[in-house]
Amino acid sequence: MQSGSVTTLHTIDILRKKRDGRELDARELAFVAAGAANGSIQEAELAAWLMAAWLKGLSLNETRALTLAMRDSGEKFAPTRLGKQAVDKHSTGGVGDKTSLLVAPLAAACGVAVPMISGRVLGHTGGTLDKLEAIPGYRTALTLAEFETVIKKCGASIIGQTDQLAPADRKLYALRDRTATVENPGLICASILSKKLAAGLNALVLDVKTGSGAFLRKREDCEFLAALMVATAEAAGTRTVALLTDMGQPLGRAAGNWIELVESVELLRGERPAWSPETNIDLRELSLILAGWMIHLGTQAETPEAGYARAEKALMDGSALRVFLAMIEAQGGDVSVFDDPAAFHKPGATEIVAAWDSGYVAEMDTTALGWAVQRTGAGREKAGEPVDPHAGILFHARRGARVERGQPFATLYATRPELLAEPAAILKRAIHFSKTPPNAVVPLVIRVFTRDEAEEYLREKQLSASSS
Ligand code: URA
Repeated sequence: MQSGSVTTLHTIDILRKKRDGRELDARELAFVAAGAANGSIQEAELAAWLMAAWLKGLSLNETRALTLAMRDSGEKFAPTRLGKQAVDKHSTGGVGDKTSLLVAPLAAACGVAVPMISGRVLGHTGGTLDKLEAIPGYRTALTLAEFETVIKKCGASIIGQTDQLAPADRKLYALRDRTATVENPGLICASILSKKLAAGLNALVLDVKTGSGAFLRKREDCEFLAALMVATAEAAGTRTVALLTDMGQPLGRAAGNWIELVESVELLRGERPAWSPETNIDLRELSLILAGWMIHLGTQAETPEAGYARAEKALMDGSALRVFLAMIEAQGGDVSVFDDPAAFHKPGATEIVAAWDSGYVAEMDTTALGWAVQRTGAGREKAGEPVDPHAGILFHARRGARVERGQPFATLYATRPELLAEPAAILKRAIHFSKTPPNAVVPLVIRVFTRDEAEEYLREKQLSASSS
């Protein structure tokens, strides 16, 4: 309960109002965000509010107000002391999406400061923090002073929401993961932008996933989310661009925690040459494109293309790898685990799934594949419980590849032998082979939303940014 000059707010009234589909005002949403952050609203009430918001939706005004209230639920980071442009990247969530591990050091190696506040496993998608915590000793909960020290020393720091920084998102994010309330544009926008705006960024690059592995499956819903986030962040003073990118298959080969880190370090080490068919060409390409935009918005390149070229150089000359390892050490991580990554990898059970048919890999239900990854032990059953760093799935064939029945298709790593059967069964249902090669080539980047494009899009939808 909170007394104010106008009326006293009660959680139950706010729940009933949202349940009945009525619009909450900024004061009511600030009450929810503060209650999530300081624990004055119980988890059961928050979960009910999330489900009501998911079912009834959030208007543009509600989304904006919730975003700002969640941003203001804690302290703010002040990157002006870094003496560089502070730029970050955030994805709406994907399977095997490890680009944060790559773009942070790439952009930092090119002179941009990267104060990155990331998330954990969410629904069927992986979480950067859970991946980094696979490194013994790596601390994702730094104080603001420690965060600043690491960025000054290394150029980048990757941490999570804390009791200081975006605490409302810390609570709501973990609850959404366990209450099937992730896939809602307003909740996604407020979750992502609250932590990004609390970091005081000069600029932000958003990777909005579309396709079978995205939270929002329909192309128009993804476009709306991209426009919504760009317009909301710009209205709050952060220069923002959103790239709509393909999540019609896992990005790269690995989906899990430790195995995604290894794939990233291999790429930073140049251990998989770009011309090899084994290479994670999509992961390399998307990381360079996103880093190119970060470098451009961080005023270190005239154009995103020139930023791409700078990022590629930092990848090839080893400077991004040096930033990455320095950041891990500065956050308490033991980098010696990368000396022999295979020796560190100790899954409880392993199974190679052979191709169950011959043909071309045509359709993938990437959301189902993401759930398969979670069920190996890489995700959580309960909010707050630890994940298994060693669990996950390595995919040996990509969309469009020709496979012969019996050849290794994927390697499953599970916490216990009894956790192998469900992911194996999901995999077989989620992948379809065709007799002829799939003819549609899906581009990696489907559309780019700058501020003007986002505002025009919303105007066309009669959701003008200025109507709030
Ligand atoms: N990433 C976030 O931080 N929040 C979401 O809701 C989705 C992706």
